[in-house]
Amino acid sequence: MIRNSLVIISKFCVFLLIIFIFFNWLIRKADYDLIIVSLDSKKVTSPQCILFLEPLSIPYPALLIDNHVLQFLHNEQCEKHDPMLKIKVAIDSKYKKKRDNESLLFFEFFEMNNRTNKDYLQFSTQPTRVIPKNFETYSIGNLSIPTNIPMFLEMWKRAVLLKCLNLPVRRNRTKTQQPNHGKEAAGKLAEFRDVLLKFNMFSFLNGGTLLGWYRECGIIPHTGDMDIAVFSKHFRPELVDFLQSRSSPFRLLRRIGRINDSFELTITSKVSYPMNTDLFVMYEEKNKDGSVMNWVGGASNAQKFKYTYPEYDPWCAADLYGYLFWVTCSPQKMLIFEYGNLWYEDVPSSDYNWKSSANNVQKNGFWKEEELKQVYVMY
Ligand SMILES: *[C@@H]1O[C@H](CO)[C@@H](O)[C@H](O)[C@H]1NC(C)=O
Ligand SMILES: *[C@@H]1O[C@H](CO)[C@@H](O)[C@H](O)[C@H]1NC(C)=O
Ligand SMILES: *[C@@H]1O[C@H](CO)[C@@H](O)[C@H](O)[C@H]1NC(C)=O
Ligand SMILES: *[C@@H]1O[C@H](CO)[C@@H](O)[C@H](O)[C@H]1NC(C)=O
Ligand SMILES: *[C@@H]1O[C@H](CO)[C@@H](O)[C@H](O)[C@H]1NC(C)=O
Repeated sequence: MIRNSLVIISKFCVFLLIIFIFFNWLIRKADYDLIIVSLDSKKVTSPQCILFLEPLSIPYPALLIDNHVLQFLHNEQCEKHDPMLKIKVAIDSKYKKKRDNESLLFFEFFEMNNRTNKDYLQFSTQPTRVIPKNFETYSIGNLSIPTNIPMFLEMWKRAVLLKCLNLPVRRNRTKTQQPNHGKEAAGKLAEFRDVLLKFNMFSFLNGGTLLGWYRECGIIPHTGDMDIAVFSKHFRPELVDFLQSRSSPFRLLRRIGRINDSFELTITSKVSYPMNTDLFVMYEEKNKDGSVMNWVGGASNAQKFKYTYPEYDPWCAADLYGYLFWVTCSPQKMLIFEYGNLWYEDVPSSDYNWKSSANNVQKNGFWKEEELKQVYVMY
């Protein structure tokens, strides 16, 4: 009798284990990015905030962009809003002529451009700001409110639009690897930007991709891949699992380093235009004098490399073929640091050696022989 029930119990345990493994597999393989997105999303529920929002009446659709008010909404502390302060809202440029006097008492209006050939909204603030278009909102009357307020505030923090130089680049007709596919490549990179955003990771252009944007407002035609980076404090290891899952639009090709040291992923798109992209994790270190420097890693077999930068400031935004990317607010300073005073002259990719040509590269020791299997993985 006891023997029998033990057998039944152990069978049941095996059954549970199989179910558990199956669901683990399912979550790993399925759209678990969607679970992550919803974490910070919520609508207003606190009574004070509903009392605050409901009487606000705007005679045309408007987007709430007031950072203080958004923060109060997120913290559900709407009673803290000073009623004497006008609330900043953005209205689509097509309603430009329709402002009435009554709403001017309560609101400060900014014009917003929502162009079909751009993947961002542009605001006529001082200075001009841009944020990606595809964030969710909900409406109270004519007022749209971002559903994920922390995400919106992070986008606003790095929204100041910088212009590229569009310098004429003297260039021999080299064997171009990417003839005139800049727009497609930038579109794929923007898709990857959005994958990273789902993990709350804010990426920024780096290396040759930053150089191409700033110097010639495009992607350097003879370059074979693109470079972006994220700060190590923002890096989410779940990304690596996601990139190996079926729902990922990108395939992981290579993983270098450890998450806390010289980490780098190489990905490529699964469909349509193939463009390899290197995602670098950028680390922060204190110099002896207390100042901050940043660095990314590189590796050639066991040899490790370190590319250093002054304190990195990726709080600005750029337009690359109509797509928004975040960039350093001091591009010239960073480019001189990496490529030297003649950064604006073209060096054919075939002559550029990433292990020695850069001004900011130094050797950084070796991975141990027994570590190599874990720190240099090709998929
Ligand atoms: C919302 O905007 C529309 C279009 O301008 C307008 O007709 C309507 O009266 C507005 N609603 C409110 C409550 O102001
Ligand atoms: C709005 O205010 C201006 C002066 O500030 C006045 O000239 C105009 O007639 C007002 N318009 C309406 C519709 O009240
Ligand atoms: C921008 O325009 C698109 C349609 O082109 C629309 O779906 C979207 O809601 C608009 N965004 C805002 C914030 O008005
Ligand atoms: C172009 O090629 C010629 C001959 O190979 C070389 O002398 C010249 O320096 C090159 N110019 C540039 C801008 O690379
Ligand atoms: C990274 O973490 C490993 C343990 O996972 C540790 O042994 C190593 O020292 C760390 N490296 C750095 C640079 O902090």
